[in-house]
Amino acid sequence: MARSVLALLLLPLAAMEASAQDTAAAGGCAGEAFSANRAYAACSDLPRLGASLHWTYDRGAGELSVAFVAAPSAPGGWVAWGLNPAGDGMAGAQALVAVPSSSGGGGAWDVRTYNISGYGLGEPGPIAFPASDLAAELGAEGRVRVFGRLSMASYGGAGVLNQVWQVGPAVTYGVPAPHAMAGDNLAAKAKLDLLTKTTTAAASDAGGDTVAKKRNIHGVLNAVSWGILLPMGAIFARYLKTFRSADPAWFYLHVSCQLIGYGVGVSGWATGINLGNMSNGITYTLHRNIGIIVFALGTLQIFALFLRPKKEHKYRLYWNMYHHSVGYTVIILGITNIFKGMTILGVEQRWKTAYVAVLCLLGVTAVILEAVTWSMVVKRRKAESKTFNNASNGHLPRHV
Ligand SMILES: *[C@@H]1O[C@H](CO)[C@@H](O)[C@H](O)[C@H]1NC(C)=O
Repeated sequence: MARSVLALLLLPLAAMEASAQDTAAAGGCAGEAFSANRAYAACSDLPRLGASLHWTYDRGAGELSVAFVAAPSAPGGWVAWGLNPAGDGMAGAQALVAVPSSSGGGGAWDVRTYNISGYGLGEPGPIAFPASDLAAELGAEGRVRVFGRLSMASYGGAGVLNQVWQVGPAVTYGVPAPHAMAGDNLAAKAKLDLLTKTTTAAASDAGGDTVAKKRNIHGVLNAVSWGILLPMGAIFARYLKTFRSADPAWFYLHVSCQLIGYGVGVSGWATGINLGNMSNGITYTLHRNIGIIVFALGTLQIFALFLRPKKEHKYRLYWNMYHHSVGYTVIILGITNIFKGMTILGVEQRWKTAYVAVLCLLGVTAVILEAVTWSMVVKRRKAESKTFNNASNGHLPRHV
């Protein structure tokens, strides 16, 4: 009896051990074991060429420690990994390239930095992220591990960076031979999200997930509110007003659109401020400031609703001017900031395209309604002047 209980207790342990061995055999993040002085907060299995990247991003120091792991495409070949602040391909990459040492021989590796400006590797030289502690070694199953520490201090760009990596077949006199042009080689690029996993988030993986989730929520809330609802509400106000039959209706549509938009927008804004406070290493000053201005002006518009003079009041004209100019400013700044935010988050192109499509739809609607409005106004003017002429000719207006 006691023995079978013991077996039951041990069964899950045995299963766990087996699965750990499976992943170890498969390579990738889970299978890599570094020596004690090399530990990383995060790891990502890169989607091509069987490569993986382990990293620790120290926000305070602005330092990124990496271990890139990949097997050369043939024995004696090379591996490379880089960040590209200028684009998502090879051109512009700031790369670490590891080649078998030509001098040392016997399993020694050299790591050099390349500021790649085109589709040739060029000469080794300094890169935009000053590199230190460069080293490489041969790990399990022919995989090469490339270690380095990059200083990101002077880099004011996004927390999401483009990374590229590559493997090649041979090295002649220290010069890496060109890599293959197969689909996998050409598609070896991905995003690296520095803030998802950071030193501070290393204690629990959930910390990174929470940040990622918060950012998505922040993006969606703001895009829907400031980016879609408010412009829609403005369209209601400007164009429905012309139709006399829609007279009080346009006002309620406008007010509800803007109130809902503002409500959702404020929660989106609050998540943004919260994200800003959580990320103490990188601040997106412009995005943050535009966000604060948009929020302040939006709040002003809500007050304006309650401080609105009566239609006949002599100050109503000034109120209208103020309300319209602040309203359009909020919309323009809001949309600008949404695009800025999408760049910061490195959102996929299809989301950008979708948002541009929504804006185009709103824009086309506005242009059509603008034309309809003008034609109605012109018609109305004509009708009015006819009435006036008839009256001045001494005839009674037709419809009286
Ligand atoms: C990298 O190369 C580009 C273009 O050739 C140059 O503008 C840039 O200053 C170089 N960066 C470094 C760190 O040398």
